[in-house]
Amino acid sequence: MRLKGKSALITGSARGIGRAFAEAYVREGATVAIADINLAAAEKTASEIGAKAYAVRLDVSDLASIEAAVKAVETRTGGLDILINNAALFDLAPIIDITKASYDKLFSVNVAGTLFMLQAAARSMIARGKGGKIINIASQAGRRGEPLVGVYCATKAAVISLTQSAGLDLIKHRINVNGIAPGVVDSDMWDEVDALFAKYENRPKGEKKRLVGEGVPYGRMGKPEDLTGMAVFLASDDAEYIVAQTYNVDGGQWMS
Ligand SMILES: NC(=O)c1ccc[n+]([C@@H]2O[C@H](COP(=O)([O-])OP(=O)(O)OC[C@H]3O[C@@H](n4cnc5c(N)ncnc54)[C@H](O)[C@@H]3O)[C@@H](O)[C@H]2O)c1
Repeated sequence: MRLKGKSALITGSARGIGRAFAEAYVREGATVAIADINLAAAEKTASEIGAKAYAVRLDVSDLASIEAAVKAVETRTGGLDILINNAALFDLAPIIDITKASYDKLFSVNVAGTLFMLQAAARSMIARGKGGKIINIASQAGRRGEPLVGVYCATKAAVISLTQSAGLDLIKHRINVNGIAPGVVDSDMWDEVDALFAKYENRPKGEKKRLVGEGVPYGRMGKPEDLTGMAVFLASDDAEYIVAQTYNVDGGQWMS
């Protein structure tokens, strides 16, 4: 067990990739806060995972909610060892149709949410004096722009940049900040992405998802479980000397 006795908080872990991270962390011996804006879904997920998972309501775009979630973890487990910044929103529109509302929503969750969640976790870890591990979930979308995905791509590029700055700033406290850039992963989010592509590219539903899967060098879309090995490794003692990096886990989609 590589995370025995560790206390983790995973944002947006009621479903999808975050849920797979939570299941893997519990298998490795950690206690995990399933921290999600959808409390009912978080409670259901926690009860399905078992006694080492518990639900916490969290809206990463709200500073008071972030503070309360970190407090809840401190009270329950005595302190926070690992944060995964996983919660994010997606949207899609041609550049000339992007709305300010969409921009504000995505930046408040994907960028401000990542930064201020990371800040609150780091303050808690520094006060405790035991270091910690912070993992930000970026995306291949953060490596280069895409015609219809301008805002989401920009938020994920910002996550990669914040991972670098926070990684360099916090390592003196023995807090390792690193990131994972998934490629295309079959989750509820991708069903929403497919529906948006169907609308804007005039395709039958399901076609975009099939095509992107066929385009992955590995030969298929990722599954949430394909990402858990890297998430466990980056939270473990084996990753002690790794600082400010973002790793592609994408079946060969991107090289950097
Ligand atoms: N699915 C993919 O193909 C893919 C590819 C690259 C990167 N990613 C990234 O992986 C992460 C997880 O993606 P997913 O596909 O599992 O997404 P998802 O939409 O299936 O799950 C996201 C979770 O975040 C929660 N959430 C939304 N807003 C929140 C908020 N304000 N505060 C707290 N929780 C909130 C949702 O309730 C949901 O449970 C995201 O950062 C996403 O950008 C996904």
